[in-house]
Amino acid sequence: MMPRDRDRDRDGDGDGAAHSARVREHLASAVNAAGGWLSFERFMELALYAPGLGYYSGGAAKLGAGGDFTTAPEVSRLFGACVAVQCAEVLRKLSAGSVLEIGAGSGRLAVDLLARLEGLGQLPAKYWILEVSADLRQRQREHLEKWLPQLLHRVHWLDRPPEEAFDGVILANEVLDALPVARFRWHPSAVEELGVEIRAGTSVAARVPEFVWGARPANAAMRNICRELAEAGGPWDDGYVSEYCPRLGAWTGAVTQSLRKGAVLWFDYGLPRAQYYLPERHEGTLVCHFRHRLSDDPFENLGLQDISAWVDFTRVAEASRESGFELAGFTTQAYFLAGLQIDQEMQLAAGGDANQFARLANQARQLMMPGEMGERFKAMAWLREFEMPLSGFALQDLRHSL
Ligand SMILES: C[S@@+](CC[C@H](N)C(=O)[O-])C[C@H]1O[C@@H](n2cnc3c(N)ncnc32)[C@H](O)[C@@H]1O
Repeated sequence: MMPRDRDRDRDGDGDGAAHSARVREHLASAVNAAGGWLSFERFMELALYAPGLGYYSGGAAKLGAGGDFTTAPEVSRLFGACVAVQCAEVLRKLSAGSVLEIGAGSGRLAVDLLARLEGLGQLPAKYWILEVSADLRQRQREHLEKWLPQLLHRVHWLDRPPEEAFDGVILANEVLDALPVARFRWHPSAVEELGVEIRAGTSVAARVPEFVWGARPANAAMRNICRELAEAGGPWDDGYVSEYCPRLGAWTGAVTQSLRKGAVLWFDYGLPRAQYYLPERHEGTLVCHFRHRLSDDPFENLGLQDISAWVDFTRVAEASRESGFELAGFTTQAYFLAGLQIDQEMQLAAGGDANQFARLANQARQLMMPGEMGERFKAMAWLREFEMPLSGFALQDLRHSL
């Protein structure tokens, strides 16, 4: 996720402000119902997913120039083209199969991927989209209708993972980072769980209840997890704050369960555990996006801003192994795209037009430069009941770092 322009206006206005006030009231009621302290994990879940109110369940614009952030598929169709080349390798080896995309945003990745798969003669039997956001579903449908009407009949939207077992590919770009995280504060002799309280002096009855962080002693499960994280990345100073995603294992297990044979591709910003929990990252990785402005304050612009955290790819690895997958590759986005010959995709997409080629070269830089999306974003591949080398992971192998 990348901001585009950090100087836009700061607060929700008009309808946005009214919506945000409703979300704030809803969250304040949840804090009060929980006895005055709500775990951050639950707060984040409600802020993102509360029906009709949360960032992903309400109607915020989210992606693109008029939204809050931009993603690799929004930057360039080259991303989808390269992912298509990777999917085509798998679908070819399987002889037939389907694709499940989780969290399809504006629908750009689906269009770019299907268009390139069509060109490669490897269209999937079905293209499922598992999407929680009703307005994004609508946007995805419109985008597909506009650009690939001939393939619309292959696309099906789902509320939950497909029930029928299938062979093929499951992929998700920037979805793992949206899963709610638990926050903790570390002390040499104790661990605290950070949650949310209403600032003294404000209440639900007050016009604008304000939220503040509140600490409680962590339970045994959180203490054990924090000890493991400290062993991987520490030693930590007194007061070290970070987060982890308690539901990552259950969620990835559920969304990949129906894959009988094939590959899972995760793309996201994140790190292996030993780097994620280094002492210098002492305030964690929580990041909010509102109108292309970054902040670390999850209590502002409620319902209007995205809240996310970096992905601990070692946790993804543990969970995927538990679900019966074999790790087939882990690399940076830059090396993934290079391995799939993004240069050739540029030539093809430019079709001999020098201006178009220059535009695509700029986009490729944004996707690949270390200071842009090239290093922070990672690609990870898992295989089940299936073996093959994957070109996207041939140039750089970071599996040892997990
Ligand atoms: C940051 S956007 C990324 C969109 C798109 N993949 C891209 O790269 O442009 C996150 C997407 O995941 C969806 N999403 C968030 N949480 C989800 C969940 N638990 N299950 C399925 N989709 C989810 C959002 O509605 C949105 O479409």
